[in-house]
Amino acid sequence: MRDNDFIVSKTDAKGRLTYCNRIFIEFSGYSEPELLGHQHNIVRHPDMPRAIFHLLWKTIKSGDEFFGYVKNISTNGDYYWVFANITSSYGKNKELSGFFSVRRKPDPVKLKIISPIYQDMLAAEKQAGTRDAIAAGTKVLTDIIEPTGKDYREFILSL
Ligand SMILES: Cc1cc2nc3c(=O)[nH]c(=O)nc-3n(C[C@H](O)[C@H](O)[C@H](O)COP(=O)(O)O)c2cc1C
Repeated sequence: MRDNDFIVSKTDAKGRLTYCNRIFIEFSGYSEPELLGHQHNIVRHPDMPRAIFHLLWKTIKSGDEFFGYVKNISTNGDYYWVFANITSSYGKNKELSGFFSVRRKPDPVKLKIISPIYQDMLAAEKQAGTRDAIAAGTKVLTDIIEPTGKDYREFILSL
């Protein structure tokens, strides 16, 4: 990503894309009609640990905002790292109407910390098998964060 790029998307309450900005379209490699209505996992990279997405959904479904580093894949197989912020949107009657995400270029120094953590999480998830993957990936992350005395959000924002 370039320094001044922001990748923006909106989804409905089920995570289906309802809006993508031009930079999202450029980086994903898809056209707008190919994106809208599809699940956000259309840009999911296989290197991403499942436990991160589990945490992402748990956080936004509880109404909190999520911050995190995500490796995404383009249609041509290239990848692009983002630093993402995801928040919930609400309708007139305060019902959940969807989610909103803004991503910017991550600091390469921070990626040097995050990338090996994700590799360890992914390895633990693969070893644990599908049923126990999320617990195994979460444990790797917790074992790193807990000794710092911070929660996930504080840890990510303090990198
Ligand atoms: C607003 C919003 C933005 C998201 N952004 C991404 C993203 O950039 N990359 C990604 O892989 N998943 C993103 N997700 C999570 C996906 O919905 C999905 O959980 C994830 O790709 C894992 O796919 P899976 O659940 O099929 O394994 C986002 C979800 C929401 C609600």
